[in-house]
Amino acid sequence: MPLADLPIDGNTRIAGLIAHPARHSLSPLMHNLSFISRGINARYCAFDVEADQLEAAIESIRALKMLGANVSMPYKEAVILFLDQLDQTSSLVGSVNTIVNRQGILTGYTTDGLGLVNSLKARGYSLQGKKITLAGAGGAGSPIAIQAALSGAGQISIFNRAYTSQGQTNSTAHKAKDLVEKITSISQTRAKFFPLEDKAAFRRELLSSDLYIDATSVGMGNQEGQSLVDHPSWLSNLTALVDTVYSPAQTRLLTQAQEARVPVRMNGLGMLIHQGAASFKLWTGQDMPVDQVEKALFS
Ligand code: ATR
Repeated sequence: MPLADLPIDGNTRIAGLIAHPARHSLSPLMHNLSFISRGINARYCAFDVEADQLEAAIESIRALKMLGANVSMPYKEAVILFLDQLDQTSSLVGSVNTIVNRQGILTGYTTDGLGLVNSLKARGYSLQGKKITLAGAGGAGSPIAIQAALSGAGQISIFNRAYTSQGQTNSTAHKAKDLVEKITSISQTRAKFFPLEDKAAFRRELLSSDLYIDATSVGMGNQEGQSLVDHPSWLSNLTALVDTVYSPAQTRLLTQAQEARVPVRMNGLGMLIHQGAASFKLWTGQDMPVDQVEKALFS
């Protein structure tokens, strides 16, 4: 449906992104296209919110009777303080990327892990019973680990650097150990933490895994062209590989996966679209037109 057929009027509802910075986000494009395509009288805006205005911004979701919001860096954890309740995954992970406003009650969800699981599902790949090696237990890795366990993964080996460059204990490694305990308490999935410094263990776990997920920032920004994997042969037994980086679209890791002939290879764009689709479903009850959104983002 063209935009002109869906004018903004007295009944238009608002959803939005609360983040800092927020202007570079692909979410407005993704959700506005979906609202219009589905004939839903709503619009999505990006709100660049300063830290001292976070509470006011969340309160305005209620005051303005918004559908809800997405939350991104750096507020995914801080926002919890201002919400009424959290869903199970969100409370396990301790972060929120989606807020739903139901008659003034604000509920926090995290759809990042679901985004990864559903983007694999869209390629016909199920996590049921699979052995996964996951690198990175930060903002991207934690929800992925929890969701993978909830989706029936058989085993997860979680790698993170145990030490900082100054030789101190790394706080994300602590989180990774916490994550292992949580996974063990909520699911049948066998989970184990490994220090990423132990390259022999990393190679061994990769060689005995079905799926490798890189949820670190290696491969993007000032780490573009780098990979945690020293040789493509480490990937040769995998049936799927996901690099959560989406810019650049083809990372060094994905090139290694191609060389190792890993059948299913994905960058982070699918995860991004499917986490958005899960938010869209929570706000509207409808499915995002994923193919259309994919085309728009790729062009
Ligand atoms: P995000 O929200 O993208 O996950 P984050 O929470 O800062 O961002 O986490 C980034 C992840 O990438 C962390 O697991 C980080 O590992 P550290 O805890 O050791 O910093 C990981 N990471 C970034 N650069 C890395 C590198 N060169 N080697 C290994 N891991 C790296």
